[in-house]
Amino acid sequence: MALAVALSRAQIGVRAPEVHVEVHLAGGLPGTSIVGLPELAVRESRDRVRAAIQTAGFEYPQRRVTVSLAPADLPKDGGRYDLPIALGILAASGQIPTESLAGREFIGELSLTGELRSVVGVLPAALTAGAADRELVVPAANASEAALARNARIAIAPSLLAVCAHLRGVEPLPSPARVAIDPGASRANVPDLADVRGQPRARRALEIAAAGGHNLLLVGPPGTGKTMLATRLAGILPPLGEAEALEAAAVRSIAGLPVDPTRFLERPTRAPHHSASAAALVGGGPIPRPGEISLAHQGCLFLDELPEFDRRVLETLREPLESGRILISRAARQAEFPARFQLVAAMNPCPCGHAGDPSGACRCTPDAIARYTARLSGPLLDRIDLHVEVPRVPQAALRAATPGEDSATVRARVVAARARQHARAGKVNAWLGNREVEAQCRLGADDQALLERAVDRLGLSARAYHRVLKVARTIADLDGAGDIATPHLAEALGYRCLDRRPMAEQAA
Ligand SMILES: Nc1ncnc2c1ncn2[C@@H]1O[C@H](COP(=O)(O)OP(=O)(O)O)[C@@H](O)[C@H]1O
Ligand SMILES: [Mg+2]
Ligand SMILES: [Zn+2]
Repeated sequence: MALAVALSRAQIGVRAPEVHVEVHLAGGLPGTSIVGLPELAVRESRDRVRAAIQTAGFEYPQRRVTVSLAPADLPKDGGRYDLPIALGILAASGQIPTESLAGREFIGELSLTGELRSVVGVLPAALTAGAADRELVVPAANASEAALARNARIAIAPSLLAVCAHLRGVEPLPSPARVAIDPGASRANVPDLADVRGQPRARRALEIAAAGGHNLLLVGPPGTGKTMLATRLAGILPPLGEAEALEAAAVRSIAGLPVDPTRFLERPTRAPHHSASAAALVGGGPIPRPGEISLAHQGCLFLDELPEFDRRVLETLREPLESGRILISRAARQAEFPARFQLVAAMNPCPCGHAGDPSGACRCTPDAIARYTARLSGPLLDRIDLHVEVPRVPQAALRAATPGEDSATVRARVVAARARQHARAGKVNAWLGNREVEAQCRLGADDQALLERAVDRLGLSARAYHRVLKVARTIADLDGAGDIATPHLAEALGYRCLDRRPMAEQAA
């Protein structure tokens, strides 16, 4: 038979749609054309496939070879189709049984010597192949990542020759060993909150942020523990559930980052430098790639020195902070990536860092301070639920302070508060929609009046209004309270200090 079809999977964002690789052999002048791949990829793939087939001891057909990758309009890149193209050619030319391709999918780049090289995006492909109930043949280097898809039948292949032996039934390929996943190990890499002394208000805000998934901004002079606090957030969050962990691992997979099964349930924490470009932060590139916000999906994004980020770069965070995803459009191509991250940001109160310090060390002019804080737009600050000042504590007091509660103790309260939210809404408070807020964050008449007065006085936007309600709901959940009471609302309002007045005024 001079026609064969091998199945594979493309990679579009975190999706892995099916691709049919059809190979047709005909008479006429020998030559190979590949339809449905971009030109450069075609040329490279053709050369690798030809060399791999020959070095594996097979014959490259001396006929007119037409390879078609369908659907044609699906964007395709890279070497991931080498293996199915080579197998299609071998099947169409009668060198391996055509039927052996049925019920299987193939993914992998070939070296000129016929070894299989790793490709990106194997985990999404494994999940979808599993859902389609087909075996997926993957390069050996991608085996541990593919094994995370517990629904999938995975065959690990070192080379084209080994795949052919598998398909002929001569020597079956092995399946990856399943790694036992230990939720406790997910915190081994996170420092403990017990290291942070004093700063009760900031610790409390961190706990509320963790309990409800809220965004947090820490404002204070250098050396007061802002970075310490921010890097300890992941340790007071519950480990990822399996579905969340798969989503987070899928982003790493398509970004070409190693997916470590022993760290599978660990909440990602990303801390990009303030020189990061918009593409690095939110994703981009001619072949859309995920950025830091997607690598922080289901985890924390820590932006230290927030005003030092390019303002246009920060503005790109606005949409994903609301929607939990990001759509990257480049010319004809579009890709959507998940980006449900929790933002923790830190900043100095002024360029020198000492504004508001009782020592009076700050020499910044009110103008300089105003310019500094104006780098953060109102709409961005709106989306940060909790603003908290982290004051300087005298060294002696810091040494004398007893170590704070450890992460495990705080995490137990966070987990209990999250359980209440999940029972009520199926998600944490931060991701409640406006209608859900109206239904689930009801206030008594007096508290409603208190909130409305505060909105006027603080000049809160409609968005900030909803966020205050959600934070109040989380504080009530930490308290085990069925309804939001006045102290919960008052505390939530106390975390909007940057809406209250410009920081230049605060410093004065
Ligand atoms: N509240 C604190 N408790 C314990 N150590 C602290 C505290 N604040 C600061 N430190 C010490 O100062 C160092 C700098 O803290 P850091 O979190 O980097 O400050 P910031 O980010 O606010 O500039 C820490 O490594 C720690 O040794
Ligand atoms: Mg710091
Ligand atoms: Zn200053």
